[in-house]
Amino acid sequence: MTIHIGAEPGEIAETVLMPGDPYRAKWAAETFLSDVRQVNAVRGMLGFTGTWNGTPVTFQGSGMGMPSLSIYANELIRDYGAKTLVRIGSCGAMQERIALRDVILAMTATSVSTPSRGIFREVNYAPCADWSLLEAAVAAARAKGTTLHVGGIYSSDVFYDERPDLTEQMTRHGILGVEMEAAELYTVAARHGVRALAVLTVSDHLMTGAALPSSERETSFAEMVEIALTAAVQ
Ligand code: ADE
Repeated sequence: MTIHIGAEPGEIAETVLMPGDPYRAKWAAETFLSDVRQVNAVRGMLGFTGTWNGTPVTFQGSGMGMPSLSIYANELIRDYGAKTLVRIGSCGAMQERIALRDVILAMTATSVSTPSRGIFREVNYAPCADWSLLEAAVAAARAKGTTLHVGGIYSSDVFYDERPDLTEQMTRHGILGVEMEAAELYTVAARHGVRALAVLTVSDHLMTGAALPSSERETSFAEMVEIALTAAVQ
């Protein structure tokens, strides 16, 4: 057990998929895994382990924002030996050509700051996805016929942004979408020599104001989970 995860040693799989919402972890585990058991409930940040096509997989909620994700990623890697961490979440699109329900694979994650910022001081570290995971996720998405975008995303510290000029610069520099966790996930994974990727479904559009109704979020979430599972379990 760690401070934030109540699982016993051996109860967390080497492959961990991390939705922000703990109830998404429950839904995904019950929908996709066999022999599921709940392995964490500390602070309601639910975690479940089971098998997918015979391979052990854990779904562990990360919470919203990089400080929360950082806690879970650190403990999963350092205390439970997780080797592959895939964030599964939503993002806001920042390019006109991207539509609601499209999937974005985050090759890089730009940020204003991350919880790791203090380590780097004057250095602008460039958090990037693990290539083997990214390549496998591209193949999995293509095989499913998913509309896919691969490139840089922006990991923001705020959902309610007060800097329209910053959004504009991100868009101008080709950033595909905004979410709130990937940059720290990539940084923590790199620090510990493990693999990480963020697979994101577009839930809203910053340029048009369009947003997916909650009734449709489950369908696009399921597609994303299948891509993430296929990529992570190879
Ligand atoms: N996650 C989904 N949509 C988002 C947005 N517009 N900003 C930040 N995180 C998000």
